[in-house]
Amino acid sequence: MTDRTQAARIAEAQGVLRANDRGGYTVPTARLYPFQWNWDSAFVAMGFSTFDEARAWTEIEMLLHGQWEDGLIPQIVFHAPSDDYFPGPDVWGIARTPPTSGIAQPPVLATASRHLLDHAGDRAAAEAHMATIYPKLLANHRWWAQARDPGGTGLVATLHPWETGMDNSPAWDTALARVPTNTETVIRRRDTSHVDPAMRPRAEDYQRFIHLVDCYRGEAWDPARIYARAPFRVADIGTNAILLRAERDLLAMAGRFGTPQECSEIGARIDARQRAIGGLWHDATGLFVCRDLLTDAPIPVGTSAGFLPLFAGAASPAQAAAMALKLQDWARRVRFLVPSTDPTDPKFESVRYWRGPIWAVVNWMIADGFAQSAQADAAARIRADTLALIETAGFSEYFDPKDGNGAGGGAFSWTAAIYLLLRA
Ligand code: GLC
Repeated sequence: MTDRTQAARIAEAQGVLRANDRGGYTVPTARLYPFQWNWDSAFVAMGFSTFDEARAWTEIEMLLHGQWEDGLIPQIVFHAPSDDYFPGPDVWGIARTPPTSGIAQPPVLATASRHLLDHAGDRAAAEAHMATIYPKLLANHRWWAQARDPGGTGLVATLHPWETGMDNSPAWDTALARVPTNTETVIRRRDTSHVDPAMRPRAEDYQRFIHLVDCYRGEAWDPARIYARAPFRVADIGTNAILLRAERDLLAMAGRFGTPQECSEIGARIDARQRAIGGLWHDATGLFVCRDLLTDAPIPVGTSAGFLPLFAGAASPAQAAAMALKLQDWARRVRFLVPSTDPTDPKFESVRYWRGPIWAVVNWMIADGFAQSAQADAAARIRADTLALIETAGFSEYFDPKDGNGAGGGAFSWTAAIYLLLRA
């Protein structure tokens, strides 16, 4: 790609973020996702930081407007009403201003905040923002520990596939099959009128997703009660790895914005999380895997999330080397990396949601992880593939690893953000 076309692409990526800006927060894409999503916004903030630092901080602060008193940072903040999305605020039944959903999403926010601070041109402004953001991030990490790891195992539970951000991963199939399909809420899907239904979750999965929402709303979203009641409870390797990384980033900030007690509190959680994630290595899969906390058994499915302990600094050098080989093995079966499901798995589907396609945000984290683990070739290959996909197919929601075609929604914010980060 010539410098000229590259510059044009960068301008286009900035244009996607500006176009999806709804006044201080950014929607993932128009129509399909008309509100502020938690982990999308963390990546979007880093994307904005490459050309508009002030706007990047606003993205984070707007997300934190949705934070609950107990520390939860919800998956969705419904800043303004829209008929384009189901389930909306009425289904969640949470009386807050602004309304929010009642579940979490992967906690990338501390990592994003640290990124903004470390890359800040305007130091004074960055320090002032961080002084108010840091206690909120700390409260959020305490929420994860208390609400989602009441037994102090070092692993946090996710109680809905949507919390993992990887909604339809085949890793959830067995655990989700135990969730009943009856719902109190009448299901009125909007997603399948915006994009091809062949790429979206199946009807039965959707009924189980809503069954879970009905169940937790019935417990008034009380953390202890929903944890106890949950018909779906897994230790997602992606969420746990992202949280461990976020704890390290929080610790780096605690030295400057927190107290010595907070530093030791966070340090203790880091040790426990690191040990617990170590126990999720799965030899037969050649990757880290999730664990079903209701049956207390590993979930032996290879997914892109299985590489994320690299991002957390939780993989040994031998494990990192094994994962680099695993990646080469996958690369012999698909043209582009990193497919969300192991391409040798019979459940691999190259365009269905989280069952095969590539997400740029996941690639960015895995590449960062390989780079940290002295696997520079693997990191370079993933970054080159991500750029090639975006430069050829545009800022799609996700990409088919077989032919590189873009799929799902178009003009997607976090895809644009990752492009900006990779080109920065
Ligand atoms: C889908 C994805 C989730 C993402 C959201 C908005 O629900 O599975 O990870 O946050 O879309 O982009």
